[in-house]
Amino acid sequence: MARDPERRALSTGSDIRHPLFARWYARVIARSAERDQNRARLLGDLRGRVLELGCGTGVNFARYAQSVTEVIAVEPEPTLREHAERAAASAPVPIEVRAGQADHLPLEDASVDEAVASLVLCSVPDADSALAELRRVLRPGGRLHFYEHVAAHNRVGRALQRAADATFWPRTFGNCHLARDTRGAIERAGFRIEHYTRLRLIDAEFPHPHILGRAVLPV
Ligand SMILES: C[S@@+](CC[C@H](N)C(=O)[O-])C[C@H]1O[C@@H](n2cnc3c(N)ncnc32)[C@H](O)[C@@H]1O
Repeated sequence: MARDPERRALSTGSDIRHPLFARWYARVIARSAERDQNRARLLGDLRGRVLELGCGTGVNFARYAQSVTEVIAVEPEPTLREHAERAAASAPVPIEVRAGQADHLPLEDASVDEAVASLVLCSVPDADSALAELRRVLRPGGRLHFYEHVAAHNRVGRALQRAADATFWPRTFGNCHLARDTRGAIERAGFRIEHYTRLRLIDAEFPHPHILGRAVLPV
């Protein structure tokens, strides 16, 4: 059940509409994301059938390697999905863009080898439900590759993030939350983190702490 009033108003079926955010993201952030070398690290070691959760404009698509046989990219925001469909047409591997939401993925159980989450677990209504769904669709031994911004370690930074989360931030930036403990949520969902790095992207458009890493679903 959607608790956030904006989401309740704008969410229908597999779609979540954030038209202003989507236009801004497509114009400003997705373009700068194309230069983000952390995405190359995120996507460098993928193979087989891949789910990309909340693919946005499809900014990752050009980076998929030939070892990937197929990507199912799920995106609930219609404007972003249109961009993603265009990006899929020129991608180096077959990519199908589907409407859908993280807590109800349009995929069979144990049907993908790898999952990719980049800057999306901050924006889903409930990261625990999203990760439970990722578990369902990943095969045993499958891997989750993540690149996410997370809560600050220091108390002042975290307090500022929480204040922003409680007021203007989510409704301005497509339900993004700054103070999530995404690494903890990944572990709580039953994944084993194989490795991760904590990054401080102080010169980036989005200067919050990020984590970049890989987790595996135990067999
Ligand atoms: C900050 S954007 C990141 C887009 C893209 N992953 C990237 O790396 O640039 C957050 C994305 O999460 C998507 N999103 C938000 N709620 C979602 C949900 N419930 N299920 C799946 N995706 C969701 C948004 O539509 C948007 O594409």
